[in-house]
Amino acid sequence: MIIEPRMRGFICLTAHPDGCAKSVKNQIDYVKSKGHVNGPKRVLVIGASTGFGLASRITSAFGSDAATIGVFFEKEPSIGKTATPGWYNSAAFENEAQKVGLYAKSINGDAFSKEIKQKTIDLIKADLGQIDLIIYSLASPVRLHPETGVLHRSVLKPIGKTFTNKTVDFHTGNVTQVSIEPATQDDIDNTVVVMGGEDWSMWIEAMKNDGVLANGATTIAYSYIGPEVTEAVYRKGTIGKAKDHLEDTAFQITSSLEELNGKAYVSVNKALVTQASSAIPVIPLYISLLYKIMKAEGIHEGCIEQIQRLFSQRLYTGSAVPTDEQGRIRIDDWEMRKDVQEKVKSLWEQATTENLIEIGDLAGYKQDFLNLFGFGFDNVDYAADTNEMVMISSI
Ligand code: NAI
Ligand code: NA
Repeated sequence: MIIEPRMRGFICLTAHPDGCAKSVKNQIDYVKSKGHVNGPKRVLVIGASTGFGLASRITSAFGSDAATIGVFFEKEPSIGKTATPGWYNSAAFENEAQKVGLYAKSINGDAFSKEIKQKTIDLIKADLGQIDLIIYSLASPVRLHPETGVLHRSVLKPIGKTFTNKTVDFHTGNVTQVSIEPATQDDIDNTVVVMGGEDWSMWIEAMKNDGVLANGATTIAYSYIGPEVTEAVYRKGTIGKAKDHLEDTAFQITSSLEELNGKAYVSVNKALVTQASSAIPVIPLYISLLYKIMKAEGIHEGCIEQIQRLFSQRLYTGSAVPTDEQGRIRIDDWEMRKDVQEKVKSLWEQATTENLIEIGDLAGYKQDFLNLFGFGFDNVDYAADTNEMVMISSI
């Protein structure tokens, strides 16, 4: 079929398999261009199909020759209906890994469930024995709790008082005021259950109990801090409470891994266009201004550049892992640079529908958004009939 983007709100309903393959190939080429990193050999990535998780899988495999198992929750294709992008990304990743003889298998299902954890552990036992690095990179709006059977929904709301600020509809470029009512205590609790650290610790606990964690195993989850303009809705909002919980969980996991000499880290990453971040009010406007400035300064990075730097300049340097005073790895350092943030702040005050095209990188935002779904790549023939029924070899 001929596949075109079909936008609805913050998502695109279609995905292009050739474009997703191109996106994966570009990321592999980038990692290879940076040279070998003496990194992990057996890696489990939870949330491996898009965004930071996919970049982590690619960096492990093509930067350090790691065997990888990827867990994700994606929709497979059916005749006349495309899969979700993470499905096509994972199919392409496995193909590329196979070409160079790298082990790669994937599990598609709900990572919050006991079944998927057990399935993953059984696969590790059968194929790899143990795991050296576990990347936890889930972004989900819901979690079915495995113990209680309750379906929790996360929300993106401020806490305490109504938040009013600018936002942009990145499809139209319209800058408007948005007001978000404060969260209830239930909203806060639910968001922490979905995006906090409980499931991360359940994974590590289950893996430890079944003996599939290698001595010295490391686990990493991703967090975000960001600037003042997004603070009320992000870091001091419901999602921020979940990130606080995630960051606290790292210390608990580290203590639970003492006898294995294991360690849990949180890495604070840069704001980037992903399916998860596009849905957060205010963030797209911030990102479009940030991109403009970081590109002008020559310090712009995407997910793959961020994770390659995390591996090569933080985790696997041969020296101690540098962290901030709260024990977090910081690869948001360039985003948070004082000069960068001062410029964003001043652009933020000026931003209107009329000038955003000039002062912000709306085009870059839109390009990245299209790219998430496999659209907008050079050297992909979007007019050609293409096979939507691309399968993942290990599934
Ligand atoms: P993403 O939406 O690109 O990736 C989410 C991944 O989780 C996908 O692989 C998806 O299949 C998987 N997933 C979702 N629900 C699942 C489930 N129930 N079972 C199994 N897999 C499931 O998101 P992104 O942006 O890469 O986020 C990953 C982490 O990075 C999140 O913790 C996020 O808060 C964090 N982060 C994101 C930043 C951003 O600007 N995008 C900045 C800093 C941190
Ligand atoms: Na991810």
